Amino acid sequence: MSATALDDVDLLSPEATEDPYSVFATLRDTAPAVWSERHQSWVVARFSDVEAALTHRGLSSDRVAPVLARQRAKDEPGTESSATRVLDILKSWMVVSDPPEHTRLRKLAAGAFKAQRISLMGEHIQSRVDAILDDFISSGERDLIHHVAYPLPAAIIAEMMGVPLEDQDRFRAWSDELALVAFGAGGEARGERHTRALRGIEEMFAYLQGLVDAARAAPGEDMISALAAPVEDGDRLADDELLSMLALLLFAGHETTINATANGVLALLRNPDQLALLREQPDLAPKAVEEVLRIDGAIKVLIRWTTEDVEVGDMTIPAGDRVFLALAGANHDPDYFPDASAMDITRHPNRHVAFGRGIHACIGAQLARLEMRHMIASVVERLPGLRLADDAEISHVPSLAARALRELPVVHDA
Ligand code: HEM
Repeated sequence: MSATALDDVDLLSPEATEDPYSVFATLRDTAPAVWSERHQSWVVARFSDVEAALTHRGLSSDRVAPVLARQRAKDEPGTESSATRVLDILKSWMVVSDPPEHTRLRKLAAGAFKAQRISLMGEHIQSRVDAILDDFISSGERDLIHHVAYPLPAAIIAEMMGVPLEDQDRFRAWSDELALVAFGAGGEARGERHTRALRGIEEMFAYLQGLVDAARAAPGEDMISALAAPVEDGDRLADDELLSMLALLLFAGHETTINATANGVLALLRNPDQLALLREQPDLAPKAVEEVLRIDGAIKVLIRWTTEDVEVGDMTIPAGDRVFLALAGANHDPDYFPDASAMDITRHPNRHVAFGRGIHACIGAQLARLEMRHMIASVVERLPGLRLADDAEISHVPSLAARALRELPVVHDA
């Protein structure tokens, strides 16, 4: 079957930004893979195809190396620009590497995660959630993103890594800058904004290097100390790999958990019967978290490149092409999820792909789930009469990958 072209697919249009699910529904109905002229990319949106693609060896995650090669070609011979230096560090992010490099990096990271014993962190996370909600209630603030969803993941990952709490606010700026430089945020951003982002990232690396030096001088129980130490078979992260890993952990766990929590609360507010059910049966919190991740998760699209001809459904995507795997499309596929567009916090089974699949499946999923369970359950319990503010205007940040609300103004009777 030949390539199917719709009029064209624009995942950054205002309509797609507010309601990507309708766009992906059209794509699902059209073909297993649809070519977008605008994005110069294939888009795959059916559950079975997305799931198969996520475990296909012919789809590469390596998308920083080509940007690095282009950047290097622009440098004066014998010199290294700031962009080259930064990209050279970011290229060892496991999320943008393929086996065998990925296998090694993932193993080293997994060891450090395991040492944190996340399953035992529930009580601690709850005490942070309580403090955040105490502040929210007493402050009279309205934006649930900034004052409720935002502080938790930053505080927890900062603690796990041994980063002082007072430095948390710098994470968000660094996160944005990393997205801009590593992935060009939808195109290769240039000019003043790009130069500023590079400066910010170099500052972040210098900052992280200070933490690494301190952890080496006096190792503690934190993740930086664990990642800096050699593992059983003697392997260890080289200095640049270590900086890269720390930047990735800050970046990957921060914005995603904030957005997933905020999207989840909004989904409950828009489905009052489900909110009432969760209030009545707080034990449903773990299932409710899976359902909010499915119905409006934090990541809409993952990007891959084909390294060989790849079959998707009854189509073939040629080698060397870019492919968008629409997690948001897969998670709403009625051929896989009964009554897919309805929110059902008792849904079981619920094998959504909000955390990806295969070798790159989210390494922080257990932590993210725990944070979301405690936060969402406590928001429901402690904020009776929770509703959207009358003047709330719900809108999202235009982004290919992230499903991010701009703000979530609420009122409550607490
Ligand atoms: C609700 C919150 C989160 C969501 C929706 C999410 C989603 C994802 C997804 C979809 C992937 C797969 C990427 C790919 O295949 O290209 C991924 C990978 C990853 N996530 Fe998460 N994530 C979340 C929270 C976290 C947290 C809390 C951390 C760390 C503290 C984290 C660290 C990572 C890392 C390091 C990877 C790369 C794994 C690899 O390449 O092997 N994530 N995440």
